[in-house]
Amino acid sequence: MPGSDALADASTRKLVAAARGARRHAVADFSGFRVGAALETDTGEIITGCNIENATYGLTVCAERVAIFKALSEGKRSFTRIAVVADTASPTPPCGACRQIIWEFCGDIEVVLANLTTTTATLTMKELLPLPFDKRLLGR
Ligand code: THU
Repeated sequence: MPGSDALADASTRKLVAAARGARRHAVADFSGFRVGAALETDTGEIITGCNIENATYGLTVCAERVAIFKALSEGKRSFTRIAVVADTASPTPPCGACRQIIWEFCGDIEVVLANLTTTTATLTMKELLPLPFDKRLLGR
């Protein structure tokens, strides 16, 4: 769904604005690639996250996972959408690790992708992760 923020509804604009705000806190000294995320709960609350890098590189945590782990640690369990913001012309989608975590903890939610000025795409988690591994396969 290409389009500018002007075409997005008010709640989407608010979610994307929260992700843009979180992106300003990114700790991305190694890649210089700053990402913000905003997770919406079923009660309309917004929990944000930014990417956090460190000198080992491999312990980096993406913005999406920071937002989800923050929310889970505050007792939130039911989510409706997540917005992801990076300064790229084309949509920056969640990485594979984040797709797994979003699927397991949020299910088939909408993923709103935006840059600093424009909401560039909205996809469902089923579109991003069509054949997921999850607890059903473990008999849970
Ligand atoms: N990153 C995210 O935070 N979310 C994404 O969806 C893509 C990648 C971060 C990880 C790393 O800090 C930097 O972007 C470059 O990969």
